[in-house]
Amino acid sequence: MSAAATVKDLLQQAEQDLRALDSARLDAEILLCNVTGFDRSRLYAYPEEIVPEHKAKAYMTLVNERISGQPVAYLTGTREFWSIEFSVNQHTLIPRPETECLVEAALEHIPPDKTWRIADLGTGCGTIAIAIAKERPDCQIMAADISHDALMVAVTNAGKLRINNVSFVKSDWYSGLAGPFELIISNPPYVREDDKHLSQAEVRHEPMLALSGGIDGLQAIRQIISRAPAYLTPGGRLFIEHGCDQGETVRSILAGHQFSEIGTRTDYAGHERVSYGRVFHG
Ligand SMILES: C[S@@+](CC[C@H](N)C(=O)[O-])C[C@H]1O[C@@H](n2cnc3c(N)ncnc32)[C@H](O)[C@@H]1O
Repeated sequence: MSAAATVKDLLQQAEQDLRALDSARLDAEILLCNVTGFDRSRLYAYPEEIVPEHKAKAYMTLVNERISGQPVAYLTGTREFWSIEFSVNQHTLIPRPETECLVEAALEHIPPDKTWRIADLGTGCGTIAIAIAKERPDCQIMAADISHDALMVAVTNAGKLRINNVSFVKSDWYSGLAGPFELIISNPPYVREDDKHLSQAEVRHEPMLALSGGIDGLQAIRQIISRAPAYLTPGGRLFIEHGCDQGETVRSILAGHQFSEIGTRTDYAGHERVSYGRVFHG
């Protein structure tokens, strides 16, 4: 590409280079916006605008990384969740849209005037904790993760978003937590370790710690559910995300650990995705 490349030239070249991807044009635009600071409408309004050489070079570097499978979110360092822009990096899972169903399900059970204590287990870049903290500013959220590097990203996100009702703790599930909580919420790793999705182009760039749920995918789910009653107030609720084929098993694990009022919600694609229950200590 010549020194005086225009927006149009760069996009055409990148779209061609990325043609193996379904999202070639979109990715090309997002990466160019990231490098230039333009918004997408400007790319269309001023296609002949010259992009300075150093930015054009930086752009081609990003396009090459995208060709090698790096997810766009890691290249731009951001991903939107719950209409909030979160910083992400290679230490954090890239937030998925279906996790918004988990947040929605939990919010339906948190009356707006309550000052509840809530735990988010495996917070990653902080999406669930921060979304709930924004929606329920009188609640106190404890966001836990075993990954120090992920927690650093979550702390940065909370700071940038001026969220004051979330505390962060390095914890192996409950090990660093002091209950009780009115509500526990978690999107744990739940992919079977032999699942071929783990080696797919983009997923293999994400942390295995955030994805793999052991041999049957249920290792973390079992640990979280089995110990939840000890950390919940009487009548407290647990909401947990899981794989689309794990609903029945997760409901039976809940039933085996003092939970009642058990149910499952489907995600936007109609797949069983979030199960929940209410604990009554016997
Ligand atoms: C599926 S990711 C969810 C991240 C984020 N909550 C989201 O929904 O985008 C699972 C998270 O659990 C964390 N994790 C894995 N094992 C853990 C453990 N033993 N204790 C606490 N967190 C753990 C991972 O570091 C990762 O951030």
